[in-house]
Amino acid sequence: MSDHPALVRAAAFCETFNLRVPILMAPMAGACPASLAIAVANAGGLGGCGALLMQPDAIKAWASDVRAGSNGGFQLNLWIPDPPPRRDAAAEGAVRRFLGTWGPDVAPAAGDVRPPDFDAQCEAMLEAGPPIISSIMGLFPDRFLARMKARGVKWFANATTVGEAKAAEQAGADVIVAQGMEAGGHRGAFDATKAEARMVGLFSLLPAVVDAVKVPVVATGGIADGRGVAACLLLGASAAQVGTAFLRCPEAKVPGAWADAIGRALPEDTMVTRAFSGRPGRSIATAYARAAAEPAAPVPAPYPVQRGLTQAMRDAAMKENDIDRIQAWAGQSAGMARAEAAGDVVRRLWQDAQALLR
Ligand SMILES: Cc1cc2nc3c(=O)[nH]c(=O)nc-3n(C[C@H](O)[C@H](O)[C@H](O)COP(=O)(O)O)c2cc1C
Repeated sequence: MSDHPALVRAAAFCETFNLRVPILMAPMAGACPASLAIAVANAGGLGGCGALLMQPDAIKAWASDVRAGSNGGFQLNLWIPDPPPRRDAAAEGAVRRFLGTWGPDVAPAAGDVRPPDFDAQCEAMLEAGPPIISSIMGLFPDRFLARMKARGVKWFANATTVGEAKAAEQAGADVIVAQGMEAGGHRGAFDATKAEARMVGLFSLLPAVVDAVKVPVVATGGIADGRGVAACLLLGASAAQVGTAFLRCPEAKVPGAWADAIGRALPEDTMVTRAFSGRPGRSIATAYARAAAEPAAPVPAPYPVQRGLTQAMRDAAMKENDIDRIQAWAGQSAGMARAEAAGDVVRRLWQDAQALLR
C-alpha cells in the first residue's frame, strides 16, 4: 500500500476490524442471503445481514451459514423500532382500494402486521456472536449496548445527518456509517417524519460527519465503482459500504426484472417513496411508485402498516417478475452495478480505488 493518508486510514480500519479490503456489503433486509456475505467476506470485505424481517432462529442460521462458508467477518443489523403507528381506517381503506388496482384485493387486516419481536432479535444477534452489530433508524437501548460491549461486539451506527452522527457517538458508537441520500433502500433517519426534509447528499454529509466525530466513519450511498470508493476515502471515510452495486451479483439471488432494472437505471431513474413500506426509501421509479406519487393517489399509511397493505401486490410482482410493481430498491448509482461475481466486484472496486490514490 502507498503512504497516501486516505490509504493509511483505510489500512488502520482494516486492521482494527480484521478485514483485507475496506469494503462492506450493506446489510440489506430481504436481499442479503448468506451466499452474498460469504462471497464478500472471502474477497476480504465485510459481509452483512439486515435482520429486520428475520425471526431469531433465522438470524442464528444466517450467521452459522456464513461461518460455514467463510472465515471472514460480518455484521448483523437491526432497525430501531419506530413508535407504534397511528391507525386511520378511512385512509387505509383508500390505500387498499388503490392497491386493489395494482394487485390482489387487500384485506382490512393486512395492515395489522407486526415486525418480529425486537428484543428477541437482539438476543439472537448476541447469541450469534458477530464481531459487529449495526443499527439504523435510531440508537440501541443502553441495556442492549452494555451487553454488546461486555462481549466485545463493536457497534456501527447509521446516521443521515451530522446531528444523528453526534448523538450516536455520544451513545457509544464505535463507527459511524454516514448514509447519503443517494442510497438505495430505506433512509435511516432517526425520526421518520424528518427523513424526506433532510435529504443530505454524501458529498456534503461525509466530510461534515468526519469533522464532527472522533470515531472512524464509513461512507454509504451511491458508491458503486472504484472512483466512488477513492472519493469517499479522500473525503475522510475509513471504508465504503456498498449495497446496490452487489444486487446484480448471482450470489444476491435478486429477481431478474429487479436486477435488470438496476443495470439500466440512470441516476435520475430512482425516487424516494413511502409507497412500499410507509418509511421513505429509494427505489427504481417503477410504474407503481410513480403512480403512488401522483397528487390524486392516497397518502401511504405509516410504517409498518403500508408494508402489510402492499404485501400481496409485492408477492404477486415477485412471482411474476414484474418490475412495474416489484419493491425494487436501488441507489442513484445503480447503473454502474455489474452482473459479475461478488468477489470480483470487491476486488475491482478496491483495485481501481487504490490505482487512483497512488
Ligand atoms: C435492498 C436494500 C435493503 C436495505 N436494507 C437495509 C437494512 O435492513 N438495514 C440497513 O442498515 N440498511 C439497509 N439498506 C441501506 C444500505 O445499508 C445502504 O445504506 C445503501 O445500500 C447504500 O447505498 P447504495 O445502495 O447506493 O450502495 C438497504 C439497501 C438496499 C438497497
